[in-house]
Amino acid sequence: MKIGFIGAGRVGTASALICILNLEIDEVVLIDILRDLAIGEAMDLSHAAVGLNKTVKISGGDDYNLIRNSELLVVSAGVARKPGMSRLDLASKNAEIIRSISKKVSKYASDAKVLVVTNPMDVMTYIMWKESGKSRREVFGMGNLLDSVRLWERLYFYGVKEIKKAWIIGEHGDSMFIPKSIVNVRGDVDWNNVLNEVRNVAAEIIKRKGATIFGPAVSIYRMVRAVVEDTREEIPTSVVLNGEYGISDVALGVPVILGRNGVEKIIEYELSYEELENLRKSASILKEQLKKLGY
Ligand code: NAI
Repeated sequence: MKIGFIGAGRVGTASALICILNLEIDEVVLIDILRDLAIGEAMDLSHAAVGLNKTVKISGGDDYNLIRNSELLVVSAGVARKPGMSRLDLASKNAEIIRSISKKVSKYASDAKVLVVTNPMDVMTYIMWKESGKSRREVFGMGNLLDSVRLWERLYFYGVKEIKKAWIIGEHGDSMFIPKSIVNVRGDVDWNNVLNEVRNVAAEIIKRKGATIFGPAVSIYRMVRAVVEDTREEIPTSVVLNGEYGISDVALGVPVILGRNGVEKIIEYELSYEELENLRKSASILKEQLKKLGY
């Protein structure tokens, strides 16, 4: 299998490394607007791979011919928020980037599935889907898995003994929530407190080290693995809804079955009234953002 990473920055390269070391992949390509960066990262990653006896062909550049025949593309290209830049400024800049990438993806890798990471991720997932002309099952976003991983970290920190299932769903942003009716953990939890901590932890890391990298990279890896190994496991994933949970024409995080074909199935849990309201609130926040971007 061939995998393309579009965006050879911190998150793109960290996730590429974890995928290369842990999966049976034949070929990896890195694309970045900074050609030398992509080539240099590819060279460096080739050494990491060979050092652990992995014979993966790895190349990089800014030419989209490289992504031909990729089965999966991980898109983390974009700009980060700079001082004085509003969330909407960031969204419109990254929307422009995702729109241009989606055209390249349709042209050079029309059969590839696309895993979107660039923030605001749910909005970018929708734009990638809309502009690439791909089906809903082929375009999906990583966000709620990372939120959930952060939740597990907090649950273990507070002494939970066993986590059978604990997801965060909704917007990968402030309106994310824990659907307690599908949570199954052993131990007492102050859910409001842990949700608050999870919501704020990315900002805390960014304040200290400038970016979140390893948590996102491992979450990307788990989703790539689900596709590469066709694990058909349940993962909260941003996907365009079409009537599921009474929501349509917006991408947001819900539990799905992820496998070789991408989103194999959207799981429709029976949520409580309050949880459904939370999900709809996320949907309307995201629709509002899409509207401001002309969708
Ligand atoms: P970074 O700045 O290290 O890397 C972004 C890369 O994209 C840069 O190398 C840049 O040259 C490249 N790029 C910019 N415009 C491009 C274009 N038109 N075509 C190709 N490449 C282009 O940023 P980092 O830390 O890797 O983050 C990437 C994105 O992922 C950001 O939007 C960030 O907010 C998001 N993110 C999302 C997470 C999630 O859970 N969904 C978690 C962490 C980051």
